Amino acid sequence: MNILVSAGPTREKIDAVRFITNRSTGKMGYAVAEAACALGHRVTLVSGPVALRPPEGVEFVSVESAAEMAGAIFSRSPQADLIVMTAAVADYRPVSAASGKLKKQPGRLTLELERTVDILAGLGQEKRPGQLLVGFAAETENLLAYAADKLERKNLDWIAANDVSRSDIGFGSDRNAVTLIGRNGAIFELGPAPKIEIARRLLEIVTGCC
Ligand code: CTP
Repeated sequence: MNILVSAGPTREKIDAVRFITNRSTGKMGYAVAEAACALGHRVTLVSGPVALRPPEGVEFVSVESAAEMAGAIFSRSPQADLIVMTAAVADYRPVSAASGKLKKQPGRLTLELERTVDILAGLGQEKRPGQLLVGFAAETENLLAYAADKLERKNLDWIAANDVSRSDIGFGSDRNAVTLIGRNGAIFELGPAPKIEIARRLLEIVTGCC
């Protein structure tokens, strides 16, 4: 299969030296890309800025902002049989970025933010027959209800829900535990286990090979 994976955070520029980002390290997405390669698939990894080396054998595309990630994903999605969006794409970005460095002034500074494009929702809208779409839902409460809502709203086939309020798994950790929910109502509990094992099992389930 042609598999397209997104990973890592995005950076939304405030000025020449500052940006808004989040705690994603990219480990889950890189594990998905590595596991997909090992299972014999053709893999493209679109990644925000992280401190990881791309797995051998993947086509690697480096991006920074949500807009760049959207461009990289939408230009490749028509060829993909399976798309796994693990990236922690920023939901908001500064309305305008200063070209130089902002100098401090007395008093408060208000930063105006606007919504970024929801890549996964866009992929869900233009999904072609037979194409599989997997999202990730990082939640701190109501894990299953919020994840099931995203599955429906974004027209996904599967969603992997993980509880990011737990300190033993998730952000920065080599281990994870996810609840994989299918649009047909199937539910699989994966882990706690190393992210590479979670990734392999997730791919086996969503591609229907075991
Ligand atoms: N995602 C995306 N583009 C965005 C934001 C998120 O493609 N601009 C994708 C992520 O890669 C992930 C899924 O959407 O697979 C879940 O993202 P999340 O931000 O948690 O979902 P939202 O629907 O924005 O819900 P909320 O902010 O209410 O948690």
